[in-house]
Amino acid sequence: MYEATNVMYQTVLTELQEGTLIVTINRPDKMNALNKDVIEDLGNVLNEIYNNPEIKAAILTGAGEKAFVAGADISEFISLDHAAGAALAEKGQINVFNKIENSPKPIIAAVNGFSLGGGCELAMSCHFRTASEGAKFGQPEVNLGLIPGYGGTQRLTQLIGKGKAMELMMTGDMIGADEAKALGLVNHIFPQSELLDKTKDIVKKIKSKSPVAISKVIICVNEAAKGEKAGFANEIKRFGECFDTEDMREGTTAFIEKRKPVFKGK
Ligand code: COA
Repeated sequence: MYEATNVMYQTVLTELQEGTLIVTINRPDKMNALNKDVIEDLGNVLNEIYNNPEIKAAILTGAGEKAFVAGADISEFISLDHAAGAALAEKGQINVFNKIENSPKPIIAAVNGFSLGGGCELAMSCHFRTASEGAKFGQPEVNLGLIPGYGGTQRLTQLIGKGKAMELMMTGDMIGADEAKALGLVNHIFPQSELLDKTKDIVKKIKSKSPVAISKVIICVNEAAKGEKAGFANEIKRFGECFDTEDMREGTTAFIEKRKPVFKGK
């Protein structure tokens, strides 16, 4: 069954399928590079994900078979100075990358090709990643005299550790899907033709669980990844909060009654 949201975007296609918003970055002739319009559209899509109760989860992917996202749009960099460069990175981090990471609803990246620079950063801001067999990952900013600006120095280090993160960001080398999986950058590799359906299957399983519990998992795991000192104490607090939820009553009662739970996300 296909449902539609009412919102149209210039550079991003969205389609609500049984509560999962499929978000497709749609500039295939420019390898889906992130220009100002894409960043603005993604910010608005995220507002929709946060605020539309019909959206339970989202999958982020790229149009075409070549690229997920081949980075920030390099043509927009030429005219920028120090302040404008910092403002670009700050705006993107606040409106898009951090919003994806902190979304209370699961957002998974289905990486269907080149995932470079801002594209790798975009995938890394998602809660986890699947990839096609031909996907390629890298942070090639040093080739341009730049460093990652959408959180890549932080999230790549969190995901794959300091030594490998240093090497990838210093050399600008690309790695294939197999190496990305071995490093923990992606969780699953699927043939290109099955990538979206297999990712939807994973999301479907997540959607059958308690949305309240899922949102608390996201907050707690994000804190752990950032080395939050209060992470253990916050877990205790949030574990306690679960006992006040209808979802916890439903989940435990369903187990005792030997039936499947029906969670309301309350
Ligand atoms: N910004 C702007 N335009 C980009 C882009 C980017 N990050 N990545 C690709 N494009 C454009 C190319 O300029 C080209 O446009 P054109 O047809 O108008 O000339 C089009 O997308 C196709 O790219 P092309 O380089 O011809 O494809 P390819 O298959 O030979 O190479 C890549 C693919 C991804 C290896 C190559 O495009 C590339 O290295 N891109 C830049 C990656 C990068 O440095 N990203 C980090 C940015 S901070």
